[in-house]
Formats: sequence, C-alpha cells, structure tokens
Amino acid sequence: MTIQIGIVGLGRVSTLHLQGYAALGEEAAVVAVCDVNSERADVVAREVGATAMAFDDMLTNEAIDAIEILVPSPLQADLAFAAIAAGKHVTVQKPLAADLATAERLVEAARRAGVAFRVFENTVNAPSWRLAEQLIADGLIGQPISIYLRWANSLLSCGWEVPAESLAWRYKGEWASQFAAPSLFDDGAHLISPAVALFGELAEVVVLSGQQHVGTRATGFPYAIAWHHQEGGQAIVEGTLCESLEVLTEQYSSDSSITITGHSGLLWINTGEGRVAERPTVEVATRGRLHSYDVDHRWSAAWAVAQRDWVRALAGDGSYRWTGDDALKVLRGSLMVDDAVRTTLSRRAHPA
Ligand SMILES: NC(=O)c1ccc[n+]([C@@H]2O[C@H](COP(=O)([O-])OP(=O)(O)OC[C@H]3O[C@@H](n4cnc5c(N)ncnc54)[C@H](O)[C@@H]3O)[C@@H](O)[C@H]2O)c1
Repeated sequence: MTIQIGIVGLGRVSTLHLQGYAALGEEAAVVAVCDVNSERADVVAREVGATAMAFDDMLTNEAIDAIEILVPSPLQADLAFAAIAAGKHVTVQKPLAADLATAERLVEAARRAGVAFRVFENTVNAPSWRLAEQLIADGLIGQPISIYLRWANSLLSCGWEVPAESLAWRYKGEWASQFAAPSLFDDGAHLISPAVALFGELAEVVVLSGQQHVGTRATGFPYAIAWHHQEGGQAIVEGTLCESLEVLTEQYSSDSSITITGHSGLLWINTGEGRVAERPTVEVATRGRLHSYDVDHRWSAAWAVAQRDWVRALAGDGSYRWTGDDALKVLRGSLMVDDAVRTTLSRRAHPA
C-alpha cells in the first residue's frame, strides 16, 4: 500500500519533509506539491516526480490520502480546516495556532471528520530522544525528576541559508505582535515537547528574559525558563545567543543538549542536529559507571522517524507524534511561557 501525499508550502523546511518521505520507498509517494511561488512548485515537482497543482485541486483529488501543510504559521489553520473538511488526513507544523480556541477547533474538526491529524514535532521523533525514552523505561536512571534543556544559538551562519522572507513572517507584523516573545513562541514547541513527553501538562511557569541586543533589536537572550508539571516533574530551559560560536550543523546554527535527572542516575542527550564538537549522542551515568550510545543525531534522522511513523499509522500500523491532544498540551505550555515573559517584561517596565 502506498500512501499518497500532497505538500503545500515548499520553503526552507520542506526539504527535510520531502527527504523523509523519499526514504520510505514504496510506502509513500509525494504525488502533488503546491506553493504560491509557482516557479518553486515547478522545480520541486520536477525534482520529486510530483504534479504541481493548486491547493483547491489537491482537496478534490481523490488519489491524495494526506496533506502536509508547511506554510507560514499565520496561514496554517485556514488551510488545515479546508483539508480536514475535504476528508484528507492532515499534518501541520508547530505552533499549532496562535490561540487555544483555534487549536481546539482544529483538533475537534479532525476528530469529527474521522481523519488523522498530526502536529509535526522533530524533538520527540529524534532517534536520541526515542533511545532516551527506552533507557528510562528500562529503569537505568530510576524515576525522572527533572529535565534541563540548553540551547546555545550562534550568530554565525554555519548550516543552511535561511532566506530573509522565511524569517520575516515569524518575527514581524500582525502574527508576531500577538506574542510577548515571538521568537520564543516560534521555538516554544521544541523546548516544551520533551518535557511534555516525560512529565505531561505544564503547571506554573517563571521566566528570566535577558536584555541582549543585536544592533537595535532586543533579542530576549539570554533567557531562563522554569516550570513545574501538574503531575510532578520540573523543567529548566536555558537559551543563549553567542556571537561567534562555531556549530557543526547542516541546518540551523545552534548547539543543544538535554540532561534528565532520575532518582538513581543521569542521562544526557549531548547533541542535537547542531553541536560544538563531536560527542557520544547519549550518555547515562548510574551506579558509578558511564554508558555511551551513538545514534544518528542529524535532523534528517528525526524527520525520517516522524514520516515513517505517520505513513505507517495511516496504513493502519502504529502511532505518530504529536496527536492533536498532545499538541494542545504543548501549545498550552507555549502560551503559559509567553504569558510569563509578558509578566517579566511588565515588572521590569513598572518596578514595584
Ligand atoms: N520542526 C521544525 O523544526 C521546523 C523548522 C522550520 C520551520 N518549521 C515550520 O514549518 C513551516 C514552514 O516554515 P519554513 O521555514 O519552511 O517557512 P518558509 O517561509 O521558508 O516557507 C513557506 C513556504 O510557503 C509558501 N506559501 C506561503 N503561502 C502559501 C499558500 N497560501 N499556499 C501555498 N504555499 C504558500 C511560501 O511561498 C514558502 O515557499 C512553519 O509552520 C514553521 O513553523 C518547523
């Protein structure tokens, strides 16, 4: 059985989604692609052997089982509602929506239509994360108590080029004006998802927001975000902006790592896609011994896992991450973080 896919939005990140499907051989075929930039659509269509077509034509094309939506976040919800109404399985990107009401309506619409609805998330599909979950389930570090995520972003461009227009819709205009920290809201799902996978829904959030500027632009770096989870468990996220940190990466220029503390051991995911130097991907320290594991840390590996699980689930075999309900937990967390940033900034502007 070949799951037939249509992709809408062929910008920066679409390369990874296309690669993920291509790796699946006969299990999946990208049969249709669409972009408002018709030249881009024609180029990609030729490259992957698909047909370039208008979004409305995808909706009425009976050969297409699922639509992958990769457009700028402000446009995502409307396209997703239309695809769900057309009876297609739908996969969208983080952030699921700018507000909870729209996100809940999307999840409910998919449920009522009886279609699969995925919110793509690479962090919890990364082989290193899947291995960490397995090692924790095997009892290597005991019951987890806390997760610490560190992101060191570099101003050097070490990986792929990101066109200015790909950043503009994130940080400027009506969409961005809804958030106290647009860039943090854009990244929020990646910061929050591992903690949600480990501990579930967030409870109280506090934020320290920094005052580092790039030119005249306030960046909010360095920041520290901490929260508790409703069912126990603590998370701390630290983000820094480094002027000249060299990062080994094929994509974005940031080094990231995760530490999970359990009652009887510690687990480190030392490298994400970007890393300052080669290190074992995963390490566990317990009972005086260090265990090292090398799994594929590249982003493309996370996309391969995510696309495999999605396509197989559509074929009736297994499950995918995130479902709509999981993604709602993550979005509620992102909105709590944004509220906490607002509180921090307002306290700074109006000290007691
Ligand atoms: N998981 C991740 O780590 C990750 C990384 C990057 C981007 N993303 C998400 O992927 C999505 C796309 O991001 P990007 O960086 O590729 O953005 P981008 O701006 O590079 O690409 C968006 C593409 O959509 C096209 N487009 C705009 N309106 C359209 C419409 N109505 N119909 C068809 N095409 C349209 C644009 O021409 C452009 O080619 C966003 O939701 C973003 O949050 C996720």
